[in-house]
Amino acid sequence: MPSAPSLNPILSLTETAMVEVNRIIVARMQSDIDLIPTLAGHLVSAGGKRIRPMLTLAGAMVADPEGSLEGAAKLAAAVEFIHTATLLHDDVIDESNMRRGNQTANAIWGNEASVLVGDFLFARAFELMVETGHIDVLGRLSKASARITEGEIEQMLIAGKPDTDIDAYLSVIIGKTAELFAAASETGSMIANGSDALTANLKDYGMALGIAFQITDDALDYHADEGDLGKTVGDDFAEGKTTLPVMMAYHAGDAEEKAFWMRTISDGDIRDGDLAHAQALMQSHGAITGALAEARRHAEQAEACLSDLPATPARDALIETAAFAASRTV
Ligand code: IPE
Ligand code: IPE
Ligand code: MG
Ligand code: MG
Repeated sequence: MPSAPSLNPILSLTETAMVEVNRIIVARMQSDIDLIPTLAGHLVSAGGKRIRPMLTLAGAMVADPEGSLEGAAKLAAAVEFIHTATLLHDDVIDESNMRRGNQTANAIWGNEASVLVGDFLFARAFELMVETGHIDVLGRLSKASARITEGEIEQMLIAGKPDTDIDAYLSVIIGKTAELFAAASETGSMIANGSDALTANLKDYGMALGIAFQITDDALDYHADEGDLGKTVGDDFAEGKTTLPVMMAYHAGDAEEKAFWMRTISDGDIRDGDLAHAQALMQSHGAITGALAEARRHAEQAEACLSDLPATPARDALIETAAFAASRTV
């Protein structure tokens, strides 16, 4: 049996450069205000998969296999800072208690400290981008940062509405997640002077990968092993989030089931046993497998964006990373 798609190829491809990226991250999260490195360090030292900075590095390696990765490493650190800042803000908004297998920063230090340290990390990301001296890259990641917030706001607006149409859901996940994956991949090529055609390919790749990644995340929120995922299963249900598995189960449900989804997701009246019932309804209607099939479709689109490129280790690692996005359990 072929082994499951993993991050191993991109991890080995970027291993040396990621040492430098992690060094920059730790150096740049420092501040004389002790709470900042304490809180940021709690999240940073818990790891995380570091997919986005690896995409930036791999994008640069596809564009220029022999080139120096000095600028790309700074950019990759900035990308991870943007991601880390959004996680701090997201866990406040979602009232989440677990992240990367640890208590969230908001659970330990409170909402105010988490929001402010998130703001600090955003600002540090922009400092790093300015240091690369690449105005187009700065423009691209500024745009992505604005889209992340738009996505989170759109998500707020469709919360509690399981009858939302698929385009509104796609717009949420493109904004809050896929846009940064697209910008991470694309700016790797930009900083390594990749051709316009390659940069556009990597943008489309990152966008499709990001959509697959978030749909999978939305499925995992209902069926994952918490120990593997490092986050609480059922957070989205508790928050009344309109995600693809809910939308699929709602559409397939009869009147009684629709009433259940309205009481829980829409009215926020959640009782003991409701999460298990929601999971059982998803199971009976194939909503998790249906969502994962949709993720797989987007991952295949991502892979197709790179199929005409020469088969290099960087290209092949990116292709496997797309497959991982739709099959991951972590
Ligand atoms: C979590 O992203 C936020 C989503 C977009 C689902 P990751 O799953 O990449 O989080 P870490 O960095 O590995 O913890
Ligand atoms: C992730 O959305 C989007 C951002 C972090 C901007 P989720 O709310 O699904 O992410 P998790 O599940 O908390 O990691
Ligand atoms: Mg969240
Ligand atoms: Mg989630």
